[in-house]
Amino acid sequence: MMRLDIVSVMPRYFTSPLENGIIRIAREKQAADVFIHNLHDYGLGKYKQVDDNPFGGGAGMILMVEPVFACIEKLKAERDYDDVIYFAPDGERLTQSIANEYSLKKNLLLLCGHYKGIDERIRERLVTREISIGDYVLSGGELAALVFIDAVVRLMPNVLGDSESALLDSFQDGKLDSAHYTRPAEFRGMKVPDVLLSGNHKKIAEWREQNAMERTKQRRPDLLDG
Ligand code: ADE
Repeated sequence: MMRLDIVSVMPRYFTSPLENGIIRIAREKQAADVFIHNLHDYGLGKYKQVDDNPFGGGAGMILMVEPVFACIEKLKAERDYDDVIYFAPDGERLTQSIANEYSLKKNLLLLCGHYKGIDERIRERLVTREISIGDYVLSGGELAALVFIDAVVRLMPNVLGDSESALLDSFQDGKLDSAHYTRPAEFRGMKVPDVLLSGNHKKIAEWREQNAMERTKQRRPDLLDG
């Protein structure tokens, strides 16, 4: 069973995503377990402060070192983590291959930043991997952590019913997925390609391969470079 510990200043943000969809299935099937840690529990003083103004001035608040160190050091004393991942727009871009890699891990600690960022000393000392989910700026790392968890747990053995379905996804073989159809075979004059109704599995596989290649050329030619 994979264990995911999430450190966040907005623990309630995770309620619905963890109780629905693929993450719920992964938890029910005991493939993954997720624990949320409220950074405010480690905050400083009477008001449980977790952030402060940046040295040197400027807009936005910075997550402070003490609460983050207190929380993460406590967790690290309890078990070994494969990685302490920090989500930020200047991290390494999340890809299918990174998701594949993490689907085989045991214990992951996910740190969600907020406000303007976090004190750099946290990144230097505690964080072992930095991941971005794309070239745009979110207001915090919570959504990025959820995107990461979704992409990872659906690859774990026994989480998806059809054990093949994740392997046939877009990106798994370096190109996009083919088009899909279901009933009815004709709708308002729009027909499903005949070959898909033919029952000829070899021909169907060939059509899908060709369709996937055409779509990739058209939509994401960058995937075919090299
Ligand atoms: N936090 C803010 N923006 C982010 C991004 N693009 N990816 C991951 N974490 C983030």
